[in-house]
Amino acid sequence: LKRGASSFIYPATEANILACAKHIQRGHLVGMPTETVYGLAALALDPAAARKIFELKGRPLVDPLIVHVYAIEQVNALAHVPDVLALLAAEFWPGPLTVVLRKKAIVPDLITAGRPTVAIRIPHHPVARALLHKVGAPVAAPSANPFGYISPTRPEHVVSGFGERLSHILDGGPCAIGLESTILDLTSPNSPALLRPGSISAASLEATLQCPVEEKPIHAPEGESATAPGLFKRHYSPRSPMVLFEENLPEEANGKAACIFLKRPTAPRSKPHSFWFSETGDLEEIGRNLYALLRAVDAEKPVSIYCQVPKGNHGLARAITDRLRRAAAQ
Ligand code: TXA
Ligand code: MG
Repeated sequence: LKRGASSFIYPATEANILACAKHIQRGHLVGMPTETVYGLAALALDPAAARKIFELKGRPLVDPLIVHVYAIEQVNALAHVPDVLALLAAEFWPGPLTVVLRKKAIVPDLITAGRPTVAIRIPHHPVARALLHKVGAPVAAPSANPFGYISPTRPEHVVSGFGERLSHILDGGPCAIGLESTILDLTSPNSPALLRPGSISAASLEATLQCPVEEKPIHAPEGESATAPGLFKRHYSPRSPMVLFEENLPEEANGKAACIFLKRPTAPRSKPHSFWFSETGDLEEIGRNLYALLRAVDAEKPVSIYCQVPKGNHGLARAITDRLRRAAAQ
């Protein structure tokens, strides 16, 4: 194993990918790059290995994990596959789509938090693909961040979350999408429901499925948060309190606050300290930079973070707004 910049980050050479695959096969954890966010990978069908994910993240056992596989043939062993999955797979896999299916007995209850369903995805990041291929078995991977904190989109983010408690992280560079996968519930294949908005929109899923896709509200009703997976109200959160705005920066934002705009302001003001997610307001660029900038701003420990949210309730705007609302929730 050849080390890279940090003592825990390994360049994604063949030899290092193979060594990390072996590490996973032996029941250990590896930080795995994907096109969405970095994941914390372990053998999905080995409860002792998967348990380490919950321990390291501090993740409650009620929150189920996504199972990652290399090829669609592996899905049949894990879940009951509805016919429509072939349509979705042809269009979106490998890629940032997770589907929730009725599970088979082989999937441990720990992975699904005791539910009768399992979430599955085939990522397209070449390093994730090479790793999954070499492991040769399904791999559970939540985002590689301590529970509740901002998701990681660079290998350094993973190191900053776990330090020496995670010895193996593969360097796949900055994540191209930067927002977690779209989660589609297919347990009733004739009435699919979008559980988590992502870069694949409900509209594009509808176009492929030729049927309506229900979009769940992006804020979980009070009290339901722990039972509706993926819908923890507070999530992705910086340590400094966050205040969201749409058009104009609120008057009360003062010199000790930080402010994040969607695009570079035309007339930057000296106070509060200003940042921007993108040059031009392009939603893909905002998504790609979202978590890295939130982390960088949070590291300055501002008294509060004023953050602009995009307009529009669909596609990437919805996914970005969803993450920012949760980040700002108390
Ligand atoms: O893009 C992604 O999906 C990333 C990368 C690493 O693949 N993974 C990710 O995992 O975001 P995580 O654990 O941070 O989020 C997975 C979400 C959780 O909110 C969980 O509640 C939901 O998926 N989930 C998992 N299994 C489920 C199930 N059977 N039914 C409904 N939701 C489920
Ligand atoms: Mg997560």
